[in-house]
Amino acid sequence: MRRAAGTTGGDNGDHDWWRDAVVYQIYVRSFADSSGDGVGDLDGIRGRLGYLELLGVDAIWLTPFFRSPMADHGYDVADPRDVDPLFGDLNAFDGLVAEAHERGMRVVVDLVPNHTSDAHEWFVAARNAAPGSPERDRYILRDGTGPDGAAPPNNWTSIFGGNAWTRLDDGQWYLHLFSPEQPDLNWENPEVWADLERTLRCWLDRGVDGFRIDVAHGMAKPPGLPDMVEPIEPQHGLLPDDVEDRRFDAEGVHDIHRMIRKVLDEYVGRLAVGEIWVTSDVAFGRYVRPDELHQGFNFRLAAADFDAADLRRAIDHSLAAVGDTGASPTWTLSNHDVVREVTRYGGGELGVRRARAMTLVALALPGSVYVYNGAELGLPQVELPDDALQDPVWERSGHTERGRDGARVPVPWEGAEPPYGFSMTAATWLPMPSDWADLTVAAQLEDPDSMLSLYRRALELRREHAAPDDAALEWHGAPEGCLAFHRDAGSLVCALNTSPVAVPLPPGDVLLASGPLPDDERVLPPETAAWLSPASA
Ligand code: GLC
Repeated sequence: MRRAAGTTGGDNGDHDWWRDAVVYQIYVRSFADSSGDGVGDLDGIRGRLGYLELLGVDAIWLTPFFRSPMADHGYDVADPRDVDPLFGDLNAFDGLVAEAHERGMRVVVDLVPNHTSDAHEWFVAARNAAPGSPERDRYILRDGTGPDGAAPPNNWTSIFGGNAWTRLDDGQWYLHLFSPEQPDLNWENPEVWADLERTLRCWLDRGVDGFRIDVAHGMAKPPGLPDMVEPIEPQHGLLPDDVEDRRFDAEGVHDIHRMIRKVLDEYVGRLAVGEIWVTSDVAFGRYVRPDELHQGFNFRLAAADFDAADLRRAIDHSLAAVGDTGASPTWTLSNHDVVREVTRYGGGELGVRRARAMTLVALALPGSVYVYNGAELGLPQVELPDDALQDPVWERSGHTERGRDGARVPVPWEGAEPPYGFSMTAATWLPMPSDWADLTVAAQLEDPDSMLSLYRRALELRREHAAPDDAALEWHGAPEGCLAFHRDAGSLVCALNTSPVAVPLPPGDVLLASGPLPDDERVLPPETAAWLSPASA
């Protein structure tokens, strides 16, 4: 059993609590709305902490709740050291942290160091200042190319579609790897470093247990901003493999992570986990060297198909990527940027069956697991009408990419119709489907066969059968289309069948299965995973 977090930021001796933690990602806009404006908020989260305790997670990660014009729903930060009034205030934040700690859960907050909002006072000043001024030096501004400098400084495209450069009235261009409302900071400017350090200390002193670092492979840019080798298609999901992308993963980024780590090391038990969309295992491993990030999100499992061979490859790569760095691996099936797993695996009953099986796989692996809110309810991606879409990707792509809103629809808590207890108003910031009555938390708590009941039982068993977090994973021989592994001698065995036929179950007592097992035969049906006891394995 994991020890409870202390009330002052988890300083209780369990210093590297994250190594095998289950971290629950809260998309703040969509978790619980206490104010009745249709948007989730900090008091809403506080009111639902009992649920998270019941679910059995070790920590929560809050997506950005800082002051922001919300062009990218909070990933455009105008003041990184204050709470946006839409979500509450600093008192509400302190109250949330204190209560989470009392309930034994850590709190991780998002940090967005690659860019600010264009409404940040620095960018307002940069816009109003002259080319070459210190104000402009905090961002990446350049003269254009071609006649009158009317063409952008290089061929970089924005991740959200379109050009990565926008021209100011006086003719200079500024870089934004995301939307034009998110100008990239110039990490060659010492003021930028000093400001991030201030932000880190501000939240560390308020008791947060760690940071999720947005675009942790961004920030530093290659000298001279060379053209991209070939324009890479706009991405808002998983990056393609084996493509060199000059916009990201510049060598200088590692110095920034060393600075972050140094600050965190002055405190006890504080985590830095980076969002790292790099392709090679070697490149990934460099982010989690002993003096850099403690962990990085590895998205390979989420990118893999529901296919044993593909999954095994993803797992092997994720383990190889942390290699001998000493960092623990991380696993995630989804987050607010990717299509929800139920839909990715085929949707409908098939998608649910597969997502249930994958939940048992992820939770059996060594390292920590990040669970995106609503995954524990088996929420599907929602098909939203065009006029409801809010993700900047929709506009930026000229209405060719629908963006990420379908994964961000508010969480249904109880009741038969929208807003299902999420808010007092049915006019929620994204509309909630009318057929979610069976997916609410209340409905699923009652049902022993629900996705929520599976998660609760799995998290309980995971704690009971905790293996040393540095235990190596061992693969068992398995029939075609199947995989089976355990973490160490004392840990449970996980078996998965992605093939269309039932296969014999490995030895051991079945502790938990993702779907019904026949009474009269020891087999693992298709699209099913099972955990088996180690004793008789
Ligand atoms: C990260 C976030 C994503 C955001 C982007 C820009 O990828 O997860 O939601 O849009 O960074 O900050």
